[in-house]
Amino acid sequence: MRKPKIVLLVAILTLATIFSHAQKNTNQRALWFTDARYGMFIHWGVYSGAEGVWKGEKLRNNNNYAEWIFYRNRIARDEYTNLLNRFDWEKIDPEQWVLLAKKAGMKYVTLTAKHHDGFALWDSQVSDYDVAEFTSPKRDIVKELSEACQKHGLKLGLYYSHWVDWEHPDGWDHSKEIYGIPAEDYDRYWQQKVIPQMKELLTDYGDIGIIWFDMWIHHSRTCVTKEQLLQLKGVIRELQPDCLVNSRLGLSIEEDSDIDFKTLGDNQLGSKKEEFPWQSPATVAHSWGFHALEDQWKSTTTLLHSLIGNVSLNGNMMLNIGPRANGDVPYEIEERLLAMGSWLTVNGESIYGSQAFDLVKDQHDWGKITCKQFQDGSTRLYLHVFNWPLSHQLPVTGVLEKPVKAYLLADPEQSDILFINSEAMTLLKLPAEQPDPLVSVLVLEYDSYPATIDGLAAQSVYGGYSLTLSNATHLKGNTMVEPPSRYGTLPSHIKVEEKSIYQWRVFMDKPTALYADISYNYQGEKGKGSITVKSSEGTLRANFQPTGEFVGEPNSDWQIGSFNSHRLGQMDFSEPGYYDISLEVKPQGGEKIDFQWLWLGEY
Ligand code: GLC
Repeated sequence: MRKPKIVLLVAILTLATIFSHAQKNTNQRALWFTDARYGMFIHWGVYSGAEGVWKGEKLRNNNNYAEWIFYRNRIARDEYTNLLNRFDWEKIDPEQWVLLAKKAGMKYVTLTAKHHDGFALWDSQVSDYDVAEFTSPKRDIVKELSEACQKHGLKLGLYYSHWVDWEHPDGWDHSKEIYGIPAEDYDRYWQQKVIPQMKELLTDYGDIGIIWFDMWIHHSRTCVTKEQLLQLKGVIRELQPDCLVNSRLGLSIEEDSDIDFKTLGDNQLGSKKEEFPWQSPATVAHSWGFHALEDQWKSTTTLLHSLIGNVSLNGNMMLNIGPRANGDVPYEIEERLLAMGSWLTVNGESIYGSQAFDLVKDQHDWGKITCKQFQDGSTRLYLHVFNWPLSHQLPVTGVLEKPVKAYLLADPEQSDILFINSEAMTLLKLPAEQPDPLVSVLVLEYDSYPATIDGLAAQSVYGGYSLTLSNATHLKGNTMVEPPSRYGTLPSHIKVEEKSIYQWRVFMDKPTALYADISYNYQGEKGKGSITVKSSEGTLRANFQPTGEFVGEPNSDWQIGSFNSHRLGQMDFSEPGYYDISLEVKPQGGEKIDFQWLWLGEY
């Protein structure tokens, strides 16, 4: 079903007609960034020659960030640059990285111009600790990359480690947590290296799309002052007013709205919809710099899920390549990037320029929704189906409008996908075979931006309703959610010690009879305490049943309370419509119960 060329053309035409339903708190200069959604991070530097090993010893940290080897393995400043002898300068060609980014469907590229090791990948007049000093003929990787980006139409971002610099005697090195550093010494580093190098980068390398800083904690916990950060930002605003600055400058976007986007933690994906631009820096395995012993490769599907998940919450993802010292991109990375690129060639319309849709995170258990509104107000919802339903039916809960049309994004003919729509439920009849083995995307077209209803617990792809605290509409009593523990053998639950009432709202698209099952752990006496489930259609009641213990992990002296499912009975929902389901959990005689979930299902 893949017809990349036609689909690409359609994607380009439709992009041109987008009406901005933009994220509210986006600076004008960041609009390209929220449209782009997907970029490439490049960690490459002297450390790439070490490959995570120094003099036969592996990097000294379980967190195997290969670019930290200078610091971790206590390498002497001038010995470190001997690693450059391993580089194959004839072969190294930054244009190849840009070409890969393009094929991968990425819209911008961010290179570690200077990482924590303090080594500049351009011909810096400020410091001899730079690539030009160690190459003959002199190389300037930033210039080469900038030219390649211009040639191939990608935005260029530059990572600059401002806070940490291990080579400059007055830069921050975490050993200074012990030895300290006088403010005037640190400021000498700042004024002699950081500010002038930033000026070089913003003057000599054409348009810079992003300066990507890397101070992952707030400045108040570091040796850097707010004034220094504002001075640095001021240089960027003065020399390249359109250049974006990320929150790892050390100032959060919440305290300074002039910060263009928030950078989440390394490999941290979005957890909620945000109105300001944000991005997850991510790796295909674990290390950023090339590491010879890397073995934690994520699958293409996992990476796609991460990208889609972020876009469904208004976020971006910047995926890292750590090329080797000969410029080669590791096969495992290249392969996944190309596979994602092919997927985006067909399905990119659902990612580029797309936004979050006004439904709750993780509302649907089959995948994620993004959306796009066009000039004439018409809107498309993109349903990313992560697990193609065995029933070949896809329930979409909470959208109050009837779609004008439904089709598969990979289908150039846009053949109709049949659906039934009733009030808050659109039920799609899917083909038996999913069109894409990675993630298949369905499009729902509407004449206008469809109204939604908040707080509805969605129908599961397995035909029931999973009711937990995260999709409840009202809570009274004990509401503290205990996170999963003991390696998840003890699931997330609420310790209920006093009478507590939880309520959910569901929509039944047809008359239905459903079983009500409740999962809990109860170590008290039989007969004490009660559970009541109510809807307008009736009431089910039962007393707590002791659930006993079970062995969480064989042969590990690991006994834990058992969470069992208990059937309360059947509920008849005689008509289609909205129903409020309430659950009362009432312990007695001080015997607590751990409530996990309520499930309304057909069997
Ligand atoms: C961390 C690490 C660094 C890596 C970066 C990527 O800040 O110190 O090595 O460059 O994250 O997000």
